[in-house]
Amino acid sequence: MKNRYAIVLAAGQGTRMKSKLYKVLHPILGQPMIRYVNDALKPTAIQSLVTIVGHGAEDVMAEIGDESEFVVQEEQLGTAHAVLQAKELLKDKQGTTIVVCGDTPLITSETFENLFEYHETAQAKATILTTKVDDPTGYGRVLRDESLNVTRIVEHKDATDDEKLVDEINTGTYCFDNEALFAALERVGNDNAQGEYYLPDVIEILKAEGEKVAAFITEDQSETIGINDRVALANAEKVMKRRLNEFHLRNGVTIVDPDATYIGPHVTIEQDVTIEPGTMITGDTTIGSGTHIGLNSEIDHCEIGKDNVIRQSVLKNSKIGNETSIGPFTHIRPETSVGDLARIGNFVELKKSEIGEDTSVSHLSYIGDATLGKDINVGCGTVTVNYDGINKHQTIIEDGAFVGCNTNLIAPITIGEGALVAAGSTISNDVEKDALAIARARESSKAGYASKLLGKI
Ligand code: UD1
Ligand code: CA
Repeated sequence: MKNRYAIVLAAGQGTRMKSKLYKVLHPILGQPMIRYVNDALKPTAIQSLVTIVGHGAEDVMAEIGDESEFVVQEEQLGTAHAVLQAKELLKDKQGTTIVVCGDTPLITSETFENLFEYHETAQAKATILTTKVDDPTGYGRVLRDESLNVTRIVEHKDATDDEKLVDEINTGTYCFDNEALFAALERVGNDNAQGEYYLPDVIEILKAEGEKVAAFITEDQSETIGINDRVALANAEKVMKRRLNEFHLRNGVTIVDPDATYIGPHVTIEQDVTIEPGTMITGDTTIGSGTHIGLNSEIDHCEIGKDNVIRQSVLKNSKIGNETSIGPFTHIRPETSVGDLARIGNFVELKKSEIGEDTSVSHLSYIGDATLGKDINVGCGTVTVNYDGINKHQTIIEDGAFVGCNTNLIAPITIGEGALVAAGSTISNDVEKDALAIARARESSKAGYASKLLGKI
């Protein structure tokens, strides 16, 4: 195997997306499209990855981080000009350089690997990844001579009517002999319909020098969708969704309606999990076996154990133990952890809190910046009053405590082990272990007053 390098083109504005968000950062199943390209390149053993950035450079660099080196293309003069920006970093290297567009996120690792191997075995100076499509509109067409050897690529906007009939397209992915690539790039001109320096022109240049140019045709046209507008983005999302859902279905996950279930690329799901329609699971989420999720739940970056039931709920950056019941209609906000056998019920919001084993917060409560131990019952309508307008304060509820309904716990506050807080109390002082705290107006009842006041007598 030769040395391998990669260049990802991501400097374009993406005008056709009609968006403030830079094209390569548009998400597919919760993940910016450019990350799919990087993830798919990883298993191909490339030694250096260079990403060409321009529009939105800082945002793109922040997204990719130290996985890549970056070069800024100040002016977007075309794909050949973009690749040329990597010259200082790569020019002296010997080996194969793969060039991939940041807007073709569906190409798989296998296809990249097959392209590398085909190119290396053919000992070509350039190998284009091509495919035949039903509708080639907008793509560069691959032109071949009578012996079916590739001669050049013509862009849609430069193509004659006859050339437009060609259904084999340039996917925008190529393998090049690194040194031949940078030598040829110097000679690319911009005399074409768009006045741009086209990378595909390198093919014709190498060919004219008598170098070997090859094409590797991939069968699956859905892999090579180039995302130029939001119609293509929606199509890509559909393809990726089906691909990922099929992976989980084959692994023993029940997805009741795969068309209406959205699972991101870094989600890990154990077998015998059931996911009902309308559910979106994204980020680095893991879900343990036997857990049931849905309908209509949103789960992002969560670690969820086994045998839980999560219904109609929203969970973000949180951790759920085992055999716990969440929802319907629970909102679990970041940095929350819920233990085993807990019950978090309808219209409950948890934020930055820890809920111990076998504890119930069953209805209409807000628990924020709180630590709750084991075997606690939090009654309906309990509020941890955590914010004084300037700072957030902590609430601690110790094991076995019972908090009655409609209670305000004014933080910072500790409710001791086994303590009882009477319903309707507003508590602002710590409650000792095993104490009863009651803080509400004394009730009085005046016999016969009701009908008098209502004028019935
Ligand atoms: C390109 C190819 C076309 C191919 C298609 C596949 C060229 C001239 N055409 O067309 O043959 O069929 O991809 O999807 O290469 N970019 C830069 N700097 C620039 C210009 C573009 O970084 O100066 C980046 C863009 O951000 C994008 C990629 O290069 O990620 C491709 O550019 P785009 O304008 O989308 O090219 P297409 O018209 O799709
Ligand atoms: Ca494109």
